[in-house]
Amino acid sequence: MPLPKAELHLHIEGTLEPELAFELAARNGVRLPYGDTGELSKAYEFEDLQSFLNLYYELMAVLRTEQDFADLANAYLARAAAQGVRHAEIFFDPQAHTKRGVELGAVVEGLWRALGSSEANHGISTRLIMCFLRDDSAESAMETLRAAEPYLDRITGVGLDSAEVGHPPVKFREVYEAAARLGLRRVAHAGEEGPPAYITEALDVLGVERVDHGLRCMEDPALVERLVRERMPLTLCPLSNVRLRTVDTLADHPLPTMLDAGLMCTVNSDDPAYFGGYAGDNFDAVRSTLGLDRERLRELARNSFLASFLEDDEELRAR
Ligand code: ADE
Ligand code: ZN
Repeated sequence: MPLPKAELHLHIEGTLEPELAFELAARNGVRLPYGDTGELSKAYEFEDLQSFLNLYYELMAVLRTEQDFADLANAYLARAAAQGVRHAEIFFDPQAHTKRGVELGAVVEGLWRALGSSEANHGISTRLIMCFLRDDSAESAMETLRAAEPYLDRITGVGLDSAEVGHPPVKFREVYEAAARLGLRRVAHAGEEGPPAYITEALDVLGVERVDHGLRCMEDPALVERLVRERMPLTLCPLSNVRLRTVDTLADHPLPTMLDAGLMCTVNSDDPAYFGGYAGDNFDAVRSTLGLDRERLRELARNSFLASFLEDDEELRAR
């Protein structure tokens, strides 16, 4: 039996497996520049975050209809359930779809079709987190927030993702202030490729309640001390870090040092179809390669529920 866990850092578009990409391409009459799944799989060699994002956005061309988003989310939920995920807080990138002419309504309603029946079908409770693309303008993010207002009963929070370096959190100050006024929870990617100062800025300027990745906090001892003191959750993604070369090898991952320092770490999959593993695979990898014992793994699983946006009673049920 896999350890029950919550997944807090998962881009639904990053769960698009090659087989489903080809199936949706055929269904929607979209031509992919890859002959078959084998050829596509060879493109899964990344130098850095940007080289991954190029493929991630390219393959989104196959996602066109409400049904596509429902099928994508259902496929993820089935895989996650098999790996012990009991609760999932799922990111989506509305701008990546609306800029291709896909209506925001098709994205949210499609995802909701799968998420709304997830407890019954997969035993997984869910939340939806809408991310802004940080390499797009703050104005575009604000327009996206406004466009999402009719769907806010389905959206728990906002996040910030895509190319980090050169796009500091402060760029999105007003958008996050507006999101807070709408009662939305706030998270942001920070310290994946960007410097520790972006983590501090995400906390102080955006008011985030969790830091996605946060890996590079380890370069700033005063920041580590603050994150420990504030019990600020970090949503780490070890297999992602290896594939995007933010760490050299999994054996070099600082997760054990971070836990020893008292940081509130969680382990997640980020974009599992691209990085070679779902949540349980990430747990297995840190157990076998980093030698984390049963107690540490339990701590990671416990943290994932504590750091979730579940209410206390829901949290107890999900565990
Ligand atoms: N979008 C999807 N995956 C991402 C990641 N790991 N970092 C930033 N943006 C992303
Ligand atoms: Zn991410």
